[in-house]
Amino acid sequence: MANLNISIGKLKLKNPVMVASGTFGYAEEFSDFIDLKKLGAIVTKTITLRPRQGNAAPRTCETPAGLLNSIGLENPGVDKFIKDKLPVLKEYHVPIIVSIASERDPEEFVELTHRLDRIKEVAAIELNISCPNIREKKGKRLISQDALATHGLVKAVRKITNKTLITKLTPNVTDITEIALAAESAGSDGLALINTLAGMIIDIEKRRPKIAMASGGLSGPAIRPVAVRMVWEVHQKVKIPLIGMGGVSDTRSALEFFLAGATAVAVGTANFINPKTSVEIIAGIGKYLCKTNLKDIKALQNSLKING
Ligand SMILES: Cc1cc2nc3c(=O)[nH]c(=O)nc-3n(C[C@H](O)[C@H](O)[C@H](O)COP(=O)(O)O)c2cc1C
Repeated sequence: MANLNISIGKLKLKNPVMVASGTFGYAEEFSDFIDLKKLGAIVTKTITLRPRQGNAAPRTCETPAGLLNSIGLENPGVDKFIKDKLPVLKEYHVPIIVSIASERDPEEFVELTHRLDRIKEVAAIELNISCPNIREKKGKRLISQDALATHGLVKAVRKITNKTLITKLTPNVTDITEIALAAESAGSDGLALINTLAGMIIDIEKRRPKIAMASGGLSGPAIRPVAVRMVWEVHQKVKIPLIGMGGVSDTRSALEFFLAGATAVAVGTANFINPKTSVEIIAGIGKYLCKTNLKDIKALQNSLKING
């Protein structure tokens, strides 16, 4: 059997397949469908300091090979998460990566990290500095659209925690490698990429956007080539591990990300179509490595052949 173990900072995973934030709830929603113990890690829906109801409906709409969403970070807030969600999550004995975001002030990342730092079941913290769907941010730049702001934020959080830190990047930039380098130099242990691509879809009869917030974030197979290209570009510039996501929906699509340089992958929108996608991919990767006589998933990372 091939070795599927990987590490990101201090975090050690038995396999490199996780579920992406916001597409797997707090995991209990999926416990009737899959054996959660098999997952490499669970990334929880982004939480904020205060509870959020999220944006007005309609908040999702199918697109060709994709999904447009503007959920707006609906979540119960950090206190309820710690009290009600974490005790359930820890029973699955899978590393828990808690995704956090600020609503108004980037200082909220520091406060959230401070609260989570004391909790041993929190294996790592993912800094969601790339959500396109927060009302307060409309019109303003996201932290992950600004290298200096990214550096400052990661550095501030790094100062107060020794837990593994993962920074989640937006694809809605001219050069994602600049932001990746800023996060790395500020002490991020890993990078998650990509968050959703800004998009819009219009109902021509009603002459209205199909989601209430007008624009939203595009995900699913439609964005995969963009995500693979970005992972490949970032892999050439940074040394820290990358978690690749964006349209991972089967073993073949997951393998594309490993070949582009990812250390791990996350399954997002595909969870809504087939909740078993992630566990099927774990088995599929094992089979592929066996068939190609590779002993370790890490062997794929630098094996891409590029002409010239
Ligand atoms: C309905 C929905 C909700 C999401 N919520 C979050 C979230 O709370 N935090 C976050 O970092 N990303 C969120 N994402 C982005 C995903 O984690 C992922 O980065 C993106 O969808 C690309 O992967 P995919 O194409 O496999 O879905 C959300 C995506 C969808 C479709």
